Amino acid sequence: MNFDTICVVGLGYIGLPTATMFASRRKKVVGVDVNKHVVDTINRGEIHIVEPELDIAVHAAVKEGYLRATARPEPADAFLVAVPTPFKKRQAEDEIPSPDLSYIQAAADSIAPVLEKGNLVILESTSPVGATEQMADWLAEARPDLTFPQQAGEEADVMVAHCPERVLPGRVMYELIENDRIIGGMTAKSSTAACDLYKTFVRGECLTTTARTAEMAKLTENAFRDVNIAFANELSIICDGLSIDVWELIKMANRHPRVNILNPGPGVGGHCIAVDPWFIVSRSPNESKVIKSARDVNDGKPIWTFEKVKEAVERIRNKKGNVTVGVYGLTFKADIDDLRESPAMRVSELIVSNIDAEFVFVEPNIKKLPSSLEGQGVMKEFDQAAKCCDLHVFLVDHKEFLDKSEKVSGEIFDTKGIVKRDGL
Ligand SMILES: NC(=O)c1ccc[n+]([C@@H]2O[C@H](COP(=O)([O-])OP(=O)(O)OC[C@H]3O[C@@H](n4cnc5c(N)ncnc54)[C@H](O)[C@@H]3O)[C@@H](O)[C@H]2O)c1
Repeated sequence: MNFDTICVVGLGYIGLPTATMFASRRKKVVGVDVNKHVVDTINRGEIHIVEPELDIAVHAAVKEGYLRATARPEPADAFLVAVPTPFKKRQAEDEIPSPDLSYIQAAADSIAPVLEKGNLVILESTSPVGATEQMADWLAEARPDLTFPQQAGEEADVMVAHCPERVLPGRVMYELIENDRIIGGMTAKSSTAACDLYKTFVRGECLTTTARTAEMAKLTENAFRDVNIAFANELSIICDGLSIDVWELIKMANRHPRVNILNPGPGVGGHCIAVDPWFIVSRSPNESKVIKSARDVNDGKPIWTFEKVKEAVERIRNKKGNVTVGVYGLTFKADIDDLRESPAMRVSELIVSNIDAEFVFVEPNIKKLPSSLEGQGVMKEFDQAAKCCDLHVFLVDHKEFLDKSEKVSGEIFDTKGIVKRDGL
């Protein structure tokens, strides 16, 4: 099947690189975003996110006329939806978060008026099981003049598929091409069409399945990571109580040929691993006991970390009076600028609100403190903080920290095994 024009709805970390990839293969791509700043930035041939090699590719695609951004979808052969799928705000601490599909609904409502017979609509956003069918229902409600897979099966006027994305930020332009792709069509025809579309640039294998299996596969991948990290985080807390160096312990245990324990940290962050397992738990609460416990362990780790920092500050204050705490890293993982669901942010917010001390933040990937930390401390370069703080709290293993950790003088609380001295 041939796709000459492609409309990508949502131009963030996933949608923009994907749109650009199609444009780089000389497809006519219209990117849609509700954020005017995003649309204007892209139309200038610039980018609004940090991702290696994306800036050059966007610049070329816009200059050559293959990529254009706009606020409203336009008629196309294929539509890709890459909008956020967060969970709804919890009313109580112990409430199981449920997925917020309002962005997908808004995207479906905006696509519906321009849909035509023969179109393919792909949901790329990470979604709970059943979301693709739900999106197809929203489209069908808005366009009673067209038929959809849930009504007409293989004979449907519009094909619908779920093709989840599993690229790693920082390597997106490489992994979009090389990773295998799961293609979950609501019909076999939808799967074949989606495979044809992705083969425009994908060199990995395109594996076809149902939309539901594709949805669950993406959630399973992230729940698997979450459960394994929770195991390491739980070990780190157990070891702290038993005066055992968890890093040494993991090194020893991993010498077993069939054991591969991951690294502990201050928690689990990002908008994927910290979010997606809840989509399984909220749908199957009684059956997801391990997945739910892993979420609880990982969500509890920032609080445990904060309590350990508080103890350390009190110990230092008893010895020398005023305490200056250096906090190293705010992003949700190393060497990116993304603060979403960051456990380092959660720890930082807890310590600035509950500990009486001076705070110095070192975060080489952002220019100014996020609003929740504004006025609570100062940002400094690593070398300055390394000299002036009494307690150094490492929360993210940025490359710069790994390279320079021996410059630090004072007590260290190391959640990432950067210096492996006091603490974890
Ligand atoms: N970022 C990742 O590493 C990653 C990896 C795999 C999967 N995902 C999934 O991909 C999806 C998108 O994530 P992201 O990181 O690209 O999000 P993002 O927040 O970076 O980008 C989403 C974009 O969609 C726009 N948007 C919101 N509603 C819209 C609408 N109705 N019409 C048009 N534009 C709209 C927003 O303005 C924003 O620019 C999510 O489901 C996420 O879980 C993300």
